[in-house]
Amino acid sequence: MNSVLYNCKNIYKSYRQPVKDVEVINNLDLILDKGSTLSLVGPSGCGKTTLLNILAGLDFATSGEVSFLGSDMGLLDSDARANLRNKEIGFVYQFHHLLPELSSQENVALPMLMSGLDKEKSMKRALELMKKVHLSDKLSNRPGELSGGERQRVAIARSLSNNPSCLLMDEPTGNLDTSNAENITNLLLELVKEEGVGLIVATHDLSLAGRLDETLNLESS
Ligand SMILES: Nc1ncnc2c1ncn2[C@@H]1O[C@H](COP(=O)(O)OP(=O)(O)OP(=O)(O)O)[C@@H](O)[C@H]1O
Ligand SMILES: [Mg+2]
Repeated sequence: MNSVLYNCKNIYKSYRQPVKDVEVINNLDLILDKGSTLSLVGPSGCGKTTLLNILAGLDFATSGEVSFLGSDMGLLDSDARANLRNKEIGFVYQFHHLLPELSSQENVALPMLMSGLDKEKSMKRALELMKKVHLSDKLSNRPGELSGGERQRVAIARSLSNNPSCLLMDEPTGNLDTSNAENITNLLLELVKEEGVGLIVATHDLSLAGRLDETLNLESS
């Protein structure tokens, strides 16, 4: 079986601007194997979020190749790309993007319902995932009734709902105090081990970065 999740070659990204194009990523190579973990570090504006969006197929490289599970993301049509993303990639945004009117369990169940799983099974798996992130006592709380760290844990549970091969996370500990950040880091590493997923995390949190297998500093790309 293919053990490579991402194989990216010569990624170059620039944004068109009226006066001068902004070059964000310059000839970057990246390989990620199943079950391995990588942090993306570097100062604000160096392209971490841009790269995560490209890896998720939410944005495109200006040139270069992004191969995910053997498919060249740039060559897939938009349906195939969305399908691959929904099935195989769990994305955690910096500001969690939970739906305020749904309970935390319903937020976790939503991607499963959207991919056609029936309500009972979706809610059951959502319950298991809420247990994994140690929030089984907050099933019916809405995001507004949770702490920042708890919301981030719900977002992590949701990202795992479709059994992805890879998790992409943008600053998962960005808004948390040191002890909550450490809890999230421990939880992520536990989940990676249990679920065998790959993990790429953009972060300013050097203690999180230091616990992952490899670090890619985008400042030097
Ligand atoms: N849609 C866009 N159009 C033009 N420039 C953009 C666009 N999106 C991002 N940029 C620029 O690309 C650069 C990289 O942005 P990006 O959001 O990837 O940085 P980052 O490393 O995630 O920063 P932070 O640590 O602050 O989150 C920045 O200079 C930003 O201004
Ligand atoms: Mg960013």
